[in-house]
Amino acid sequence: MSQLQIPRDFIQLLLARTELVDLIDGRVPLRKKSNNNYFACCPFHTEKSASFSVSQNKQFYYCFGCGAHGNAIDFLMQFDRLSFPEAIEALAKFAGIEIPRESKIPAKSTNNDDIYELLADVTKYYQTQLRKSEHAIDYLKQRAMTGEIARDFCIGYAPHGWDHILNTFGKTSALKQQLLNAGMLIKKEEGGYYDRFRERIMFPIHDRRGRVIGFGGRVLDKSEPKYLNSPETPVFQKGHELYGLYQALTANRKLERAVIVEGYMDVIALFQHEITYAVATLGTATTEHHLQRLFRYTSEIIFCFDGDQAGRTAAWRALQVCLPIMRDDIQIRFMFLPDGEDPDSLVRKEGRSNFEQRLQAASTFSNFFFQAISAQSDLSNMDGRARFVNLATEYLNQLPAGVLQKMMFEELAKKARIDVAKITAPQKPVFKKAPSIKARAPSSLRLAITLLVQEPQLAENVSEVLPVFEIPGAALFIELLENIKHYTFPNTGALLEYWRDRKERKLLEKLARTEHTIPSEGIKNEFLGAIAQLKKLAHNLKIQQLLEKASQNTLTPEEKQLLHELIHTKK
Ligand code: CTP
Ligand code: MN
Repeated sequence: MSQLQIPRDFIQLLLARTELVDLIDGRVPLRKKSNNNYFACCPFHTEKSASFSVSQNKQFYYCFGCGAHGNAIDFLMQFDRLSFPEAIEALAKFAGIEIPRESKIPAKSTNNDDIYELLADVTKYYQTQLRKSEHAIDYLKQRAMTGEIARDFCIGYAPHGWDHILNTFGKTSALKQQLLNAGMLIKKEEGGYYDRFRERIMFPIHDRRGRVIGFGGRVLDKSEPKYLNSPETPVFQKGHELYGLYQALTANRKLERAVIVEGYMDVIALFQHEITYAVATLGTATTEHHLQRLFRYTSEIIFCFDGDQAGRTAAWRALQVCLPIMRDDIQIRFMFLPDGEDPDSLVRKEGRSNFEQRLQAASTFSNFFFQAISAQSDLSNMDGRARFVNLATEYLNQLPAGVLQKMMFEELAKKARIDVAKITAPQKPVFKKAPSIKARAPSSLRLAITLLVQEPQLAENVSEVLPVFEIPGAALFIELLENIKHYTFPNTGALLEYWRDRKERKLLEKLARTEHTIPSEGIKNEFLGAIAQLKKLAHNLKIQQLLEKASQNTLTPEEKQLLHELIHTKK
């Protein structure tokens, strides 16, 4: 669901009614530091000294250690691992406010609550059946799965027969319909239903909050299909979900890295060998959604592929999915398995530390990229190198502009023995970086914006409508001012919420946590001083422009008059 469906005014009301300090203190006990500042050991990374700070004035938290930051909504998204609408729901509950009728959140979640409940009951049923089946227990033993792991992953067994689920859970036609919606039944052509999963080891698939949203089922013998998965349902989207993510997040408060493997048993075997950060896609190729989801929890992903040609092809495809989402602060690597092994067989054979050494040695994104591209061209002659450059450039242009892209272009130039300017000059970055006003905006403007973000109430001091400056950062400043006057944001956290989907968000968040040294009693004066300076700057700029035009004799009579006035009111 898009966050746009939630009325903006309601979100603002919610933030105004929430005390961030109380919200966080309920989860991470805070200590008071000084005037309205609280601190604690950061819940988002491991540390001994407290670098996590919460500002009551700003309604904004920030960790000096790992950089985690945000308002009340961000905190719930990060700490409770909620999606945006879920965080709104939780916050409404916390603040004791009802979500307005027209927004679709409550309706949707109550509908799905029934499915979640049903799937939880079905999971328990399968677990009970497993305990009763010697055949199924033997199979798991033979695959060396421990009872403890079977419990952690809620492994179960769907017994032989066509109607166990149907009869146990489908006592009314409404319940049958629900089972069908949840993907547990299949409709017969001639009417009636039968169980989708029969005589299979059952692997429940959990969402990141630990609710069962679907199943994978494996046969115990050689019959086909080896694995059967739940179909897409209102709560299960294969292109988004990752098997094992919930267990990985439960085992590690902070995921240093994640490994993407192919199968259910791979995730489980790795987990059993204390590699508790593996996840699997559900019988589909990795999508951008998968990666975006994972990068919410970790900054490093290692793909694990078969070492054969099929594995290399799959890896190249995965790399292409990664290109547009690569950022300088994330790492993606590629690991290739020895012939005939999968992570399950390999970790059982050689143990945790050997497997982790292989992960450590996995190819970096850029190494694998150049290796794969070079394999397609002959670098010993000029024609081959030209082909190599063309091919590589096409892909590198899909990278967001940033340090990585720059370095990869440089590497490409080195490999092709060509001047890097020749290949990068005509290229336009596909994605523009969030504008950094640091380099270009005058320092007075930067200060004015910083103060305004940190104390939105300052906007009350500007009653006039400021002229449109042709200065970098000025448009942002003016929009902020108008924005604050319109919404009267009570604090930084509420202001930033308005900018959540804007490209300027990162910049504003950075300014929100910038520490300035202006004493609190001097802030208003400093702010007004910065505005006065800005007006002067704009004034002089206009004069300059008009003078330039005058020197080319292209001034209109009105402009002449304006220039005259401007010069005589020179500030
Ligand atoms: N898969 C699937 N449907 C199939 C076969 C495979 O969804 N018919 C998915 C499953 O998620 C499976 C993964 O692809 O775990 C890898 O399949 P495969 O390599 O065939 O099996 P393994 O994971 O090695 O399974 P096992 O070790 O149990 O034989
Ligand atoms: Mn296997």
